[in-house]
Order: sequence, then C-alpha cells, then structure tokens
Amino acid sequence: MSHSNTQAQALIERFAATGQETCFHDRHINPQIYAGLNGANWRLKDYEARGGYAALRQMLGRDGAAPNAQTGVVGMTQDEVIAAVKASGLRGRGGAGFPTGLKWSFMPRQFPGQKYLVCNSDEGEPGTCKDRDILMFNPHVVIEGMAIAAYAMGISVGYNYIHGEIFGAYERFEEALEEARAAGFLGKGIMGSQFDFQLYAFHGFGAYICGEETALLESLEGKKGQPRFKPPFPASFGLYGKPTTINNTETFAAVPWIIRNGGQAYLECGKPNNGGTKIFSVSGDVERPGNYEVPMGTPFAKLLELAGGVRGGRQLKAVIPGGSSSPVIPGDLMMTLTMDYDSIAKEGGSMLGSGAVIVMDETRCMVKSLQRLSYFYMHESCGQCTPCREGTGWLWRMVDRIERGEGKPSDMALLDNVAENIMGRTICALGDAAAMPVRAMVKHFRHEFEHHIEHKKCVVAPYV
Ligand SMILES: Cc1cc2nc3c(=O)[nH]c(=O)nc-3n(C[C@H](O)[C@H](O)[C@H](O)COP(=O)(O)O)c2cc1C
Ligand code: SF4
Repeated sequence: MSHSNTQAQALIERFAATGQETCFHDRHINPQIYAGLNGANWRLKDYEARGGYAALRQMLGRDGAAPNAQTGVVGMTQDEVIAAVKASGLRGRGGAGFPTGLKWSFMPRQFPGQKYLVCNSDEGEPGTCKDRDILMFNPHVVIEGMAIAAYAMGISVGYNYIHGEIFGAYERFEEALEEARAAGFLGKGIMGSQFDFQLYAFHGFGAYICGEETALLESLEGKKGQPRFKPPFPASFGLYGKPTTINNTETFAAVPWIIRNGGQAYLECGKPNNGGTKIFSVSGDVERPGNYEVPMGTPFAKLLELAGGVRGGRQLKAVIPGGSSSPVIPGDLMMTLTMDYDSIAKEGGSMLGSGAVIVMDETRCMVKSLQRLSYFYMHESCGQCTPCREGTGWLWRMVDRIERGEGKPSDMALLDNVAENIMGRTICALGDAAAMPVRAMVKHFRHEFEHHIEHKKCVVAPYV
C-alpha cells in the first residue's frame, strides 16, 4: 500500500462507525430503533429475534390473523397503513419535520407508470451521525420500513442513496438487502402475497448538496447533483420524471414500530404533533458525545445530563439544536426547552432539523465558530443561484476578516444585509441554511463580534 493510500485508509478508519462511541450504551430512553444493538446483531436472524419483519407480515396478512370483520380484508389496506402513519404524528427526520403520513398521501397511487420510493441516507449535515449507525447496526429496520411504505403507496421500486464517504454503511446495507431478498422480504410476491418491491442501494457522491431531495434525484439519475426548481415536487415529478416519495433513513426506520404498535401508541411516546422517539447526535463540549434516542419532548437539560453534562464542568454558552443549518440558541434559553419540533421553533426561534445537537461551552468564540460554519456553506454551495454562490462567499470573507482582527464597524450591518438578501431568493434551502446561522449568531452574540472589531481580539481569548 502506498503512503497516500495508508493515509487515506487511516482517515477512513478514524471516521468509521464503531458504535462504541455513538449508540451502544444504556443511556437511551425508551429506544425503538437503537434498542438492544451491540454491533454484532445486525443480521436478519437477529432482527427477526427482536420482532423484525413482524410488521410487514402483519400488514400483508401473513401472520395468521383473521380477516377484518368489516372489510373482510386480510392484513391492512393501503389507506389503513397511511392512516396509522398519519395518526402517529411521525414527522420527517431529515430536517424539515414534514408530517410523513401526509407526504405519503400525496403520492398519486393510481398513476399507471412507474413510481419510486427513495431513502435519503446522504446524512451530510455537520454534527449528524445517526443514520450511519442505523444502516450499520440495524439495516433491516430501514428495509422493512421502506417495504411498508412502498406497499402503502403502491410503489414497486426503491433506492437507498447512501452518503459517498461512508462506504462501510453502503456495503453493510447491500449485505442486508441480499439477506432480505433471499428470505422473500423483498422481490416478487413478498411472503407469497401479490406485493412486489425491488430495493437497491446506491453509493452517493459525498457532496452535502446531494442530501437536498431534488439534487439527490439528479445524482441518482447519474447527473450533477444540483437542486431542481420546485414545483413540481417529487410526488408528481421525481426520479426520471416519475412520481417519487423521499424520506430520511430514520423516518423509514420508525415505521415498523408504528405498524406493530399502532399510530396512537407512537404518538403517545412523544408529545402532541411530535410523535415517537428521536435520535439526537450530541457533539461538541460534552463529556460523552454520541447518539441518544429519547422520546420527543424530552427536556434538553435531561439530554445534556445523558451526555455527561458540559465538559470539564464548564458553563453552557450556546447550543446549535438541529445541525449546523439551525440558528444557535443561547445556553440559558436552551435549558428551558424540550427536544421537539414545536418547542425548538416556537420558544427557541430555531429548528430541530436533523437532530444534531452541537453544545458549546464558555470557552467557545462565536466569531471563530461562525467563521468555520460560513466556510462550509461557501464550499458546499452548488453555484446555481447568484445570491447563494456569491453571498456565501461574502459572508465567509466578512466573518473571516472580523475573526482576523481586520473587521470594520460597518461590517455588522453588512453581514445582516447580505444574509437577508440570500434568504428566500434561492432555488433550494442551502441559501437559507447559510444565512440563518449568521443572523442568529449576530443577534445573540453581537458583543463578541463588536469586541473583535474594536479590540482586534477575542472575548474568550484567555481560554484559547
Ligand atoms: C442543503 C440540504 C441538505 C439536506 N441534506 C439532507 C440529508 O443529508 N438527509 C436527509 O434526510 N435530508 C436532507 N435534506 C432534506 C431533504 O431535502 C428532504 O427534505 C428529506 O430527505 C425528506 O425526508 P423526511 O420527510 O423524512 O425528512 C437536506 C436539505 C437541504 C436543503
Ligand atoms: S441555494 Fe445554493 S446550493 Fe441551492 S441551488 Fe442555489 S446555489 Fe445551489
């Protein structure tokens, strides 16, 4: 192996999912997706021992249960599956929190041509590492969830688009697919029923923008991963121009539990309008960073406690609650919030997003943090729209010069102005994702930026 290959291998191993640091611990609360995982029990036989594929069997009426007394149907109808998912209060775990049952009801089921189901395993949002662990350590739950979704929407072909830099997860998913096909859980006439569903894994290309659903579809078609104008939405014009439903990995992984236990039971695991459990990837200045699966509505203070508290017993300064695109929340306010879509949005003025919780202690310089974030968005802009392509560069250059002590007092207003002029003026939400963190950082930590400009040094300089 050449020197550069060895280096590349070392880098890959450094970021490989081992689960030791992330999801194999007993600090989850009522877990559904991560329950009982140890890294070795990802195979079909282990999944079945945990009750896996029982939901699919039940839905297809292959569990020996009597036909429904009113309808005479064995198993569940498509409408019943969609109704259960609607009742569950499951909201998309990819970032926007869109109600999953409602999204499924948009699929034109009677469309005569091919329809597609796509799983978004691109997971590129900085701070997020939950889907990777699901694919590595519980891949069959995603396969079963996708098969249920395909049945509900009358879809016969699906793809799982897996992030290009987690090759191990792609290989693991391929192995799980082979097992499911061999056991008759995928393919033609699943479990002897009339239902056909072919599912394939697709190795993505590693760009953050390929996680945006229409860029993902372009990439899946073999083209450059650039977002499309919407409308039309994927439900009417998706993969190869056909009706397509796209959901996040964790969204699909939640579905088997809902079918087994009922939508109402799932809703009651969380709080109204925010059903079930959610996996939070907690990183930054905590003692025990990792993936934590807890009920929606769990107080942030409890999540922080599970993660061992702020590192070194320091003060909590701020939290980015849902991946780097979500606006920062000051620590004091964060300690009063619960971890669900509504609390973080309505009371915290931010977003639950993908559930990547980045904790920052009192030693963190907000200017430096924003400098790093703005660089990311500038680097990841696909360049199609001028406000995003040019604006992300402007933002980074301004924050960079403030950080280096070369900022001007007029930069404060200019920063806000550039951010405002990106928002709502772009093809996809990456523009907003770049602008929102800037506005929130300046709003909550203005004095740090002004201190950098005036004194040409950092407020927290003694620590760093
Ligand atoms: C720039 C950008 C990146 C995104 N990256 C991801 C991602 O990595 N994974 C994901 O599931 N959704 C991502 N999304 C959201 C998807 O566009 C889409 O809303 C989601 O896959 C829908 O699934 P859900 O309803 O289950 O959340 C991204 C959106 C944007 C604008
Ligand atoms: S907002 Fe940015 S990433 Fe999205 S399409 Fe426009 S240039 Fe590309």
